[in-house]
Amino acid sequence: MIVPGSTSQSLAASLAERIGKPLTPASYERFPDGEQIVSVPRFESDHAIVIAATLDDSSWVELLQLQDAVREAGATTITTVLPYMGYARQDEAFKSGQPVSARAMAQAISTGTDRVVVVNPHEQTITDFFTVPVAVADASEMLADPLPRLTEPLFLAPDSSATTLAEEIRDAYGDGTADHCEKHRNRETGAVDVTPAETSVTGRDVVLVDDIIATGSTMSKTISALNGANRIFALTIHPLLVGNALTKLKRAGVSQVVGTDTVECAVSDVTVAAAVERTL
Ligand code: R5P
Repeated sequence: MIVPGSTSQSLAASLAERIGKPLTPASYERFPDGEQIVSVPRFESDHAIVIAATLDDSSWVELLQLQDAVREAGATTITTVLPYMGYARQDEAFKSGQPVSARAMAQAISTGTDRVVVVNPHEQTITDFFTVPVAVADASEMLADPLPRLTEPLFLAPDSSATTLAEEIRDAYGDGTADHCEKHRNRETGAVDVTPAETSVTGRDVVLVDDIIATGSTMSKTISALNGANRIFALTIHPLLVGNALTKLKRAGVSQVVGTDTVECAVSDVTVAAAVERTL
């Protein structure tokens, strides 16, 4: 039995089709004081897969409620799938007195499940924060699928932390070179500076690769540094696309933005269902 949160309806349907398990539709309401409440109908299965991207605080509450509700509805074991795990970028206390939010969230989830699956977490180390077994679903290579035929392709990461992702997508595409730029983010203002890679981009199709596009600052600054490139593609696992991010990318000159359904939005052209299936 698969029980989707409101943020992951489409991915849950793709997964249900792949693994041949039924979907149970939860319902979502709010009390007059604003508190939310989910309801899950009783079901004839002792195992439940709860799948929900935690995009904001409301979806975090919803996920914790879903985990509890499926036990009430009859599940004796639960696998919780986190297509996108919010707060995972807060994987350390950045200033004295601040929390390690990723740890707090992982511990909260662990109390309501027997197992966790996380799709491409920002840092692998956050899996240590869970107190139940964790599997990582890797959807990297699927991002190459929608790419058209490319001219002298360069797979480029905005910083060294996304280099492996760029190389994996290059390998899946089957042609081209990979490199990375250098990124500096001012932690006070959030402003991003990008120093271009030394590899020439002149006349080449450049495929920018990052695990997350949030405000779009990293990608748009990187695009601005690609003088002379032919077409520019922006690929990401988690297309958060906060606020005007897509507009920033378009204005910077991107030809196409491709993301997955870990965050369901207009550029979620790739489903990670097969990657999740491999972990179940
Ligand atoms: C950070 O290390 C991540 O890999 C992404 O580069 C970052 O989350 C992108 O954020 P934004 O789109 O706001 O620049």
